[in-house]
Amino acid sequence: MGSDHVPPVGSMAAMRPIPPDSPASHPPDWWRSAVIYQIYPRSFADGNGDGIGDLAGIRSRLPYLADLGVDAVWISPWYPSPMKDAGYDVSDYRGIDPAFGTLAEGEALITETHRLGLRILLDIVPNHTSDQHPWFQQALSAGPGSAERDRYIFRDGRGPGGDQPPNDWISQFGGPAWTRVTEPDGRPGQWYLRLYAPEQPDLNWQNSQVRAEFEAILRFWFDRGVDGFRIDVAHGLAKADGLPDRGDLPWPLPPVLEDAGAHSVADEDDVHPHWDRAAVHEIYRTWRKIADSYPDRRVFVAEAWVNRPHRLARYVRSDELHTAFNFDFLNTPWRAHLLHRTIDRTVAALGRVGAPPTWVLSNHDVVREVSRLARPQPDQPGRLWLEDLLPLPADYELGTRRARAAVLLMLALPGGAYIYQGEELGLPEVEDLPDGARQDPVFEQTGRKRRGRDGSRVPLPWSGDRPPYGFSPAGATRPPWLPQPADWADLTVAAQDDQAGSMLALYRQALRIRADLPALGDGGMRWRESPVGTLVFAREPGFCCLANVSADPVAVPEASTPILGSGPLTSDGRVPADTTVWLSLAA
Ligand code: GLC
Ligand code: CA
Repeated sequence: MGSDHVPPVGSMAAMRPIPPDSPASHPPDWWRSAVIYQIYPRSFADGNGDGIGDLAGIRSRLPYLADLGVDAVWISPWYPSPMKDAGYDVSDYRGIDPAFGTLAEGEALITETHRLGLRILLDIVPNHTSDQHPWFQQALSAGPGSAERDRYIFRDGRGPGGDQPPNDWISQFGGPAWTRVTEPDGRPGQWYLRLYAPEQPDLNWQNSQVRAEFEAILRFWFDRGVDGFRIDVAHGLAKADGLPDRGDLPWPLPPVLEDAGAHSVADEDDVHPHWDRAAVHEIYRTWRKIADSYPDRRVFVAEAWVNRPHRLARYVRSDELHTAFNFDFLNTPWRAHLLHRTIDRTVAALGRVGAPPTWVLSNHDVVREVSRLARPQPDQPGRLWLEDLLPLPADYELGTRRARAAVLLMLALPGGAYIYQGEELGLPEVEDLPDGARQDPVFEQTGRKRRGRDGSRVPLPWSGDRPPYGFSPAGATRPPWLPQPADWADLTVAAQDDQAGSMLALYRQALRIRADLPALGDGGMRWRESPVGTLVFAREPGFCCLANVSADPVAVPEASTPILGSGPLTSDGRVPADTTVWLSLAA
């Protein structure tokens, strides 16, 4: 490794061997390297032709996922739900929504997934239930001061007649975070907290019945063979005693631009009255014990928008959750120095607690990466809404090129990775959905100021040259629940299937190579000296990744041979702009 004299910036911790944390009798720690594919069930595949994806559809496409080369699937909520927030409003945590199928079909899907050599994770939603959940209905009829109300967060209002919300908290979907109820006697009464939609009342995690119920729900699905859970809003369960006003405290906290070691008040516990509070960790320690009580490995992944690697690391300490989505990576613009910094800080922070990093480029809540990367890249990391992007000039060819380079970068980094359905097809965000088609509660709750997340949730194109592109079977009775664009014929699975150089072919190749190469997945990395605007790192044994984020072609490192590129090299063998190559290094 000739030029390998650059100190490994911030990656020392990850270079140290990490002691295995499971007894030898357990299966290997697959999750430390796993590539996990997110299925958004409404939009994956429709088996019965009603325009809504379902379990029959998922089951029929499992061979596609096995062939893609992922290790596991995570299924966004499939439980009975009034679907006010696309299933994240759960009315029964032990069933399957009739639009998706039956519990028996769910059990068959678990078995079938395992038969194909894949693991299966479900999505648990512990911060809130649906307002149609029996507990909330009981709370409404039982009235103020009742044990039933104590499972949620009911308070009297402020001001004359209690007609002002109890505090100044705001909903993630826009507007105040409180809704006033009508009491059983018909009079305007208490308010309940709901950090999302009015139909998603927040649970009170200080209530022992709430804790016991979720422990039982975990066991219910673990007993049916599921391998783990993604935890929705994992950073939100604990609320400050007395529910103090939040004032003008921003969330997420603004990115810290100083070194990883910099410390500010934002690094302390309990800065915010309802996000990322210390008390959540005690809940996850209990959950970890439940997972570990099963003989084979069951795992958790946290959805925690904390905007700081060292805060995220607290969720994955060895007695808590196994992994957490790295949204800092998702929020990092396609700029070499910013990517370098995010990678360093992630690897260092998670390495300190012995957890593998994970990497993610998209999910059902964010604008798809082809469309983000099609725009000029900002100087600062941060979440971009569709509204932020629409005014900017878009070059989708460039976005696709960068998305290809980004996924090779992601899959070369240490640890695990998440793929959101359709990412492997290079789907762009559908930016021009008609207002009448929009379903995301964000749209109406913000007075139509924010268009919401529907553009990343459009049903997948599988085959054919017009909607429903094989999403629904021939003779379907209803069109797909969100309209698909007229120009997706070239993006279908069938169109990309045997097309060398397609996005799908790139994902398949990359995942195959990643599974074969001992250097990839869990382990360490070491930066190599490289031209400005590039990211070059080596992994043992004998692997090197070069991502060219600059505007000019760069040479490949000495004594290296390309294994896979996100695009062709120049005629003189250099790596063009917005291209990543995987290289093998001479021993
Ligand atoms: C999570 C989900 C999102 C949902 C919210 C409320 O952020 O990913 O889709 O709207 O939680 O449950
Ligand atoms: Ca269906």
